[in-house]
Amino acid sequence: MEKILVLDFGGQYNQLIARRVRDNNVYAEIKPYTANLEEIKSENYKGIIFTGGPNSVYDMSSPHYDKEILSLNIPVLGICYGCQLICYMRGGKVETADLSEYGKIDMSVDKKDSVLFENVPDSVVWMSHTDRITQVPNGFEITAHSDNCPVAAMENTDENIYAVQFHPEVTHSEFGDKILSNFIFNVCGCKGDWKMESFIDNTVDSLRDKIGNKKVVLGLSGGVDSSVAAALLSKAVGNQLTCVFVDQGLMRKDEGDFVENTFTKLFDMNFVRVNCGDEFISKLKGVVDPEEKRKIIGTEFYNVFWNKIREEANGGFFAQGTIYPDCIESGKGDADKIKTHHNKVKMPDDIKFDDVIEPLCDLFKDEVRKVGELLGIPKELVWRQPFPGPGLGVRIIGEITDEKVKILQDADAVLRDEIKRSGIEQQLSQFFAVLTDVKTVGVMGDHRTYDNLIAIRAVTTDDFMTADFAKIPYDILARVSNRIINECTGVNRVVYDITSKPPGTVEWA
Ligand code: XMP
Repeated sequence: MEKILVLDFGGQYNQLIARRVRDNNVYAEIKPYTANLEEIKSENYKGIIFTGGPNSVYDMSSPHYDKEILSLNIPVLGICYGCQLICYMRGGKVETADLSEYGKIDMSVDKKDSVLFENVPDSVVWMSHTDRITQVPNGFEITAHSDNCPVAAMENTDENIYAVQFHPEVTHSEFGDKILSNFIFNVCGCKGDWKMESFIDNTVDSLRDKIGNKKVVLGLSGGVDSSVAAALLSKAVGNQLTCVFVDQGLMRKDEGDFVENTFTKLFDMNFVRVNCGDEFISKLKGVVDPEEKRKIIGTEFYNVFWNKIREEANGGFFAQGTIYPDCIESGKGDADKIKTHHNKVKMPDDIKFDDVIEPLCDLFKDEVRKVGELLGIPKELVWRQPFPGPGLGVRIIGEITDEKVKILQDADAVLRDEIKRSGIEQQLSQFFAVLTDVKTVGVMGDHRTYDNLIAIRAVTTDDFMTADFAKIPYDILARVSNRIINECTGVNRVVYDITSKPPGTVEWA
């Protein structure tokens, strides 16, 4: 299998580089700068990419690499810090610039016939650097510049060494994709015949090697990531896998059964479902404060979960559906720590496994979905919209009771059905019903009613940090409202939430 090595010098976009390479149907593997040169030599890489990094090449503590790596007859592309490192390793000059360059910068291509810049005009690139190259090493020529960066790119075609000061892997670099594909195909001579199926085959092989005949336990939430991890592990080791699924009674209507049916019928594994809705409801009795409710649900969930895991932990492995964005947000490798993420959970000290396995930790969400589809997980699960850990608990305002959970599950099921029928599901990032803590007067037949108010929330967003309320056509909203009032006992009025984020959040509590 042809593959490219992404040699990680601690930048934040390293996985993104690997991902962009994979987008060209060439497998990319990331190794830290501490990886052994002999190990690299033995892998038959078609090319090596030096990543960015937060350091200056002159810092004593900054990551360097054995100079021999540039003489292996393997094409090299240096990016940002990687570009400066190549310059430094080959005796050029790197200096601190008077002005840092950060953000979108106009780049001018000086060498129009460079294979790296084939079909790349003068264009906008994304820069983020303080040091810059002021003198290229012997054998190199300048191939691009910007106003504040005399060497935005350089190359040594005799030795197939290329370097760019900017970040071609981020979408802000207008022709970044083209530059990377020029390196992959024009310089490295890759064919581009890698497919996601190969990721599955390779991962299954290495999971089998690692797990051997031991057991592996996975916490399955029914979300996309843990479901795909479960399917992958099932393919690798079948019933050596035990999935623990905690149903806290706050899932959507019939969702717990759907998850159980999917994994017990379609996949070979031990499936342990812990139904603890009653305990959750009793712990939540009388609690109305949203933060308090979240805290109780979170604490109780992990109590139940780890108690069950404790029963299953007799050596062997613990698996998690952590995906790459969870790792970068938690500060994986040398990337500067950004924030701790809730998807990476800390195991209590008394629970001992041989190791933790995270088979999806190099993939982005859309890649995970692709793997899920290829493994035969139902579309409904693979394309599931985000569902908060505390479940319907953050969509019931005021005290949570069995009766309220039932009303909300019914209303939400109607909404989901109607949105699916109307064909607009793909246009919405997230949509759900909320049970407000309000009752209103209505009239049904000849009777006066005094019943619950349901709110419908639907948003469009790229990243959930900001969101717009979705402009759902009135006729669809009218059908949703009619059906909820007719089909859900205890509801006599429906309103539509027209608040964007900010100032509102997506969830109501
Ligand atoms: P907010 O309400 O913060 O939601 O605008 C943004 C996105 O995050 C989801 N969300 C959560 N997900 N645990 C989760 O796993 C939580 O506690 C949680 N709270 C909100 C929310 O559904 C939306 O997609």
